Amino acid sequence: MKVQLAIQKRRSYRGLEPIVIADNMIKELATAASLAPSCYNNQPWKFIFVRSKEQLKKMKAVMNKGNEWTFSASCIIAVMSKKELDCVIKDREYYLFDTGLGVGQLLLKATELGLVTHVIAGYSPDKTKEILNVPEEWNVIALIALGKKSKKKKIIGDESRPERLALQYVYSIDEYSKKLNKKVKH
Ligand SMILES: Cc1cc2nc3c(=O)[nH]c(=O)nc-3n(C[C@H](O)[C@H](O)[C@H](O)COP(=O)(O)O)c2cc1C
Repeated sequence: MKVQLAIQKRRSYRGLEPIVIADNMIKELATAASLAPSCYNNQPWKFIFVRSKEQLKKMKAVMNKGNEWTFSASCIIAVMSKKELDCVIKDREYYLFDTGLGVGQLLLKATELGLVTHVIAGYSPDKTKEILNVPEEWNVIALIALGKKSKKKKIIGDESRPERLALQYVYSIDEYSKKLNKKVKH
């Protein structure tokens, strides 16, 4: 799949149906993330792929209200890092940025594999750590629900891509430009 197509196809769907998450898929997703650039090649990311029925059941307890749709995910990926694992240049801490770069690649690879990914911030990091046996010093930055797009479930929001900021607000050329914050579909 061309990168452009994966970028276009990736959507944070909520209507999921079960799919077997094979060892090989996990390896491909982790490889895609690990090939991302990072400051000094520090590779500050770590991922836990939760796919057993028992652990997925426990993970239901970590989700915030409104994120119950994650209960039909076939895998939940815990994304972790630590500040000490990456560059800190004056007040610039790169571990979140670099881990995000890794996640971006993982999301596109998942799209190529025909999987749906949906990043979530609405969860309890403390409960997640407890269930997954994560040592205290790790920062659980995000969870990613992984599954297959359901053909049957109709969930509000899934039918069209949420609007994006107008490109004239997103970038400028040669110097900073203060443009209107106007959302348009593109
Ligand atoms: C860091 C992060 C946190 C998010 N948290 C949630 C969440 O808790 N619940 C949810 O339903 N969607 C969550 N989302 C999904 C966004 O709402 C979604 O990516 C955005 O609306 C754009 O839609 P798209 O990914 O389909 O293009 C999150 C996305 C990111 C990147």
